[in-house]
Amino acid sequence: MINEGNIFVFDNNEGVADYVVTQWVEISAQAIAEKGSFSAALSGGKTPVESYKRLAASENILSWDRTHLFLADERFVPPSHRESNYGLIKEHLLSHVKIPDENVHRIQTEEITLEQSARRYEEDIRRFFCIEGGSVPQFDLIMLGIGEDGHTASLFPGKSSLKERTRLAIPVTTEKFPGERITLTLLVINNARKIIFLVSGRDKAKVLKEIVEDKKSSLPVSRVHLKQGIVYFMIDKPAVSLLSGRKMGQ
Ligand code: 6PG
Repeated sequence: MINEGNIFVFDNNEGVADYVVTQWVEISAQAIAEKGSFSAALSGGKTPVESYKRLAASENILSWDRTHLFLADERFVPPSHRESNYGLIKEHLLSHVKIPDENVHRIQTEEITLEQSARRYEEDIRRFFCIEGGSVPQFDLIMLGIGEDGHTASLFPGKSSLKERTRLAIPVTTEKFPGERITLTLLVINNARKIIFLVSGRDKAKVLKEIVEDKKSSLPVSRVHLKQGIVYFMIDKPAVSLLSGRKMGQ
């Protein structure tokens, strides 16, 4: 169930993207002031592209040398493939900003098995956060999307991946193309300091209504409950069209 105070509705996805930049500036500055670096995990899909473009255009106000970018999930295809999340983020964001290569923590998908890829990504996360054993990393920000079926990252409804309680990153197979993926687990997602869900388009209206209004929803998105942090939903008007009594604007 969404805490309605954290839902922000905008006229369109451009409005969402502008507000993402505002939030990013604030969250990253706070993290850098506190501990010298900012860690974010990003998603693929259509919705965040506008936000990535606007972040790229804000290069001068952001400290990219102190920023470490990870992926919330990745499709198991080469980086040059049109379905690659890393490829998408590179095209719209990374190739436009001065972020050091070592600050970009992509998920390897070439010359490796799906299982090895998930293990290697988990090792990379552990190394960056200097954690061992049962410790869970705390990302400053995780940006997520929502699928029409209520999936988020690559955590799909009814799958055993939702029950993972030990691993940080796992391989998944799903009916949605591309069928092989790597995803952060709920263990990691629910330990973030801030989550921003980006939701755009009329095709998301039905699932959004269930997530907001059905207290018993067991969809993957509805399982995102931060232990200490805040979950924001940044939504455009078409996606919110089936909800009643929504306040508009910020
Ligand atoms: C992916 C994602 C996925 C995405 C949603 C929403 O790689 O497919 O990370 O969870 O965020 O499917 O995608 P859209 O923004 O395209 O609607």
